[in-house]
Amino acid sequence: MRFSDLNKGKDRAFSSPAPASEPKSPPPPEPAKEQAPPPPPKASAAPAKRSPESALGVYSSAIKLVKRLYEGIQSPGLKICADLRLMSQEILGQLENDDQSLLALTRHATSENYLHAHSVNVAVLSLQTARGRGWDNEELSLLGAGALLHDIGMAPLLATVSQPRALTPQEREAVNRHPLEGEKLLGNISDLGASEKSALALMIGQEHERISGRGYPKGLKEPAVTVVAQVIGLCDVYEAMSHPRSWREAMLPHETLKAILREQTRDFDQKFVRILLDRLSLFPPGSYVELSTGEVARVAETHAQFPTRPTVEIQARADGGTQAPPLLLNLMNAPIVHITRAVDETKLAVKDDALREKLRASRWWTE
Ligand SMILES: [Fe+2]
Ligand SMILES: [Fe+2]
Repeated sequence: MRFSDLNKGKDRAFSSPAPASEPKSPPPPEPAKEQAPPPPPKASAAPAKRSPESALGVYSSAIKLVKRLYEGIQSPGLKICADLRLMSQEILGQLENDDQSLLALTRHATSENYLHAHSVNVAVLSLQTARGRGWDNEELSLLGAGALLHDIGMAPLLATVSQPRALTPQEREAVNRHPLEGEKLLGNISDLGASEKSALALMIGQEHERISGRGYPKGLKEPAVTVVAQVIGLCDVYEAMSHPRSWREAMLPHETLKAILREQTRDFDQKFVRILLDRLSLFPPGSYVELSTGEVARVAETHAQFPTRPTVEIQARADGGTQAPPLLLNLMNAPIVHITRAVDETKLAVKDDALREKLRASRWWTE
């Protein structure tokens, strides 16, 4: 394990991304000053087979594992590290086989404890950002485990942060200590080796540190903030802003990325932001868009070089009625149709009551 190296450009591909051609339809955020990084390699040369069922299995198992983590983390003797490492490998394998199906599932939130889906989503997004960039399996496996664990320090504060109101200054102070609390709670995990523990403690302790020095709890600056913590921190912010919480609504995915690019320029290495944007695409899998025909569609598959022309599944007709069965349309093959805007599927004024309810419910993970 060479996590100390990750602080100083072990991830060489991050410091000098390999050149690739710019997308033909660049996304609306500020133009990038460097070329887009290449998409992550697939596990084999053969075209990846879509496997939504297997993605569903991985996502569901990950949520169950995180529930077990949060149920047990406040008492000593929790044996879960090996399972977290295994889950990390499963997520990675699914991303390599079919990233689109798993990324689509990261649209979900869990209502009873937002940390369950949040932790899984951050792990999927972190691995999607880091894979294919020179990290070895051990490092990726620890990154995934660290992302699943990153908010364990919030476990004692769940009641506080679940209130439908802004935090008081005292509550905010307690929340800002959760990375340090999380480092302590690692001690309750019984199957943790010494080097694993120090690597995971770095990720948990630094995930809210920012290279600008504006983070917490210590206000560290680059290069003290490790690469792994930067990746988890960026994916954490993206996930949090693009998902609903009891005290605020969610932002649309592309608005979230724009906001991160615009407002947190100094907080994150812009190379990572660019990689995340590139690997999620402008309209990420599972998000909803309105077409120039007036129809509403769910993004089914993105095309790396053509971010504004994904394959979509039309679910609502222009008159607000249900498109049954849903119609699959590859916008690469439909030049006269284009996306007019991203939409929040939970707020659409569709005429069909059943469809409206289905769309509202679709954001929430229930099992
Ligand atoms: Fe956190
Ligand atoms: Fe978080």
